[in-house]
Amino acid sequence: MIVTGQISQVRAFRSHHTPAQIGFVPTMGYLHEGHLSLVQQAKEENDVVVVSIFVNPTQFAPTEDLETYPHNLERDLQLLAELKVDLVFNPDTVTMYPPGFQTIVLVEQLSTALEGRTRPSHFQGVTTVVAKLFNIVQPTRAYFGQKDAQQCVVIKRMVGDLDLDLEIVVCPIVREHDGLAMSSRNVRLAEKDRAAAPIISHALLKTAELYTGGERSCENLRQFMLGLLATESRARVDYVSVADPQSLEELVTIENEALLSTAVYFGDVRLIDNLLLA
Ligand code: PAJ
Repeated sequence: MIVTGQISQVRAFRSHHTPAQIGFVPTMGYLHEGHLSLVQQAKEENDVVVVSIFVNPTQFAPTEDLETYPHNLERDLQLLAELKVDLVFNPDTVTMYPPGFQTIVLVEQLSTALEGRTRPSHFQGVTTVVAKLFNIVQPTRAYFGQKDAQQCVVIKRMVGDLDLDLEIVVCPIVREHDGLAMSSRNVRLAEKDRAAAPIISHALLKTAELYTGGERSCENLRQFMLGLLATESRARVDYVSVADPQSLEELVTIENEALLSTAVYFGDVRLIDNLLLA
């Protein structure tokens, strides 16, 4: 497994492997089973697999958890070597954002919905770094998790709008045994918060049952889910949304399908999760 922080080395690897099919999994490291499921699927569908590990500062607001974002590069590399990943790209911040850097890639409307309301500059950071990573790696396919549903929608839009020549593959959410969606941030939860956090997936599932039972009013579904989350005093809800899965606009009534999504704070840890009502 090649491990490099240099763009030139990734480019050399890329030209050496042309015309092979390259699967690419961008990450911010501190890998868990969710990340590894993307790597496994990329292994199955491509000749070679590239994983990036880069905690991208531009997608964190000054008030957010960049400083405390967990990392363990040694462990990450060991896990990726076990999966026989071909190349790991772990650039430093100056490599990605050299002095004078000033270009942004912004998917205007989709970036302002849902997560964008609380995190206004977040997706601009994501799309800029992902566009750069796509240009550096030039993958055939790139793998993203449904865990970050809005990120998938935004990236697909960017790829379409900019005519980028690659396929975006969205992979299912991997969960802990108690239903909590895996996240690098879960380790930052205090013990009592970790015990309480499965209320999120529980509330999503119960609300989905209400939908399956015939409820189509988004306000009723939202209120029902808010009520369930309120039973856990440690949970502080940021939002519960019932939105169109493509436009991410809030719906009034569900005609076809809807993305039920939520962001909930436990202490200062912000967790997100979602479920497709279809
Ligand atoms: P990160 O949070 O490290 O996630 C990397 C990829 O793993 C994302 O596509 C995310 O959706 C996926 N993932 C995380 N938890 C998952 C889970 N429980 N099940 C399935 N997939 C999961 O997302 C980012 O990094 C960054 O925004 C990035 C795209 C790397 C740009 O900086």
